[in-house]
Amino acid sequence: MQSSAIYAGTFDPLTLGHIDLIERTAQIFDLVILAVAKSPPKDTLFTVEERVALSREVTGGYTNVEVDTFDGLLIDYARKRGARVLVRGIRAYSDFEYEFRMALTNRKLAPEIETLFMMPKESQSYVNSSMVREIASLGGDVSGFVSAEVVEALRMKYGESSGE
Ligand code: COA
Repeated sequence: MQSSAIYAGTFDPLTLGHIDLIERTAQIFDLVILAVAKSPPKDTLFTVEERVALSREVTGGYTNVEVDTFDGLLIDYARKRGARVLVRGIRAYSDFEYEFRMALTNRKLAPEIETLFMMPKESQSYVNSSMVREIASLGGDVSGFVSAEVVEALRMKYGESSGE
């Protein structure tokens, strides 16, 4: 039977830290489903269609990574897809409490689904999407944090909003 894992998130936008985690997961499972949250509990810079398109562009080189969207409870989506593993990245100690609560809540709701924690490369362990958006919005260089496709998408987004 094919083993599959779901890596869910907002991916607004996908960072090199996310890619690092995708690579690690793709080496362990037959299929990695990158599940882009349609309506995350926060406002996004990129629409869900843009986040999906960018994620597809960036992960296009991996044969066992599929990009999809989901709405509602993550465990319901995992059940629908027949996946028993949710992958989460732990970057710093500060991630722990939130992740701990989310993993235990998901386990209570769906005991058959396991959360698997992985650590991204040290060099990416402090990056998050908000920082990337902030740097890009202020005209800074984000090429050390995101792929070339995302650099370009951010440039277009902030170029558009400043009327360039
Ligand atoms: N490298 C770089 N950044 C990373 C990262 C990594 N490896 N892992 C996480 N991050 C960043 C994200 O970019 C994000 O940054 P931002 O907040 O600055 O934009 C931040 O860390 C938080 O990301 P994450 O923990 O992945 O959360 P998320 O908000 O993107 O996604 C969902 C959370 C969508 C998976 C979660 O809310 C969910 O499952 N929702 C569905 C509803 C549900 O089932 N609720 C019950 C849950 S108990």
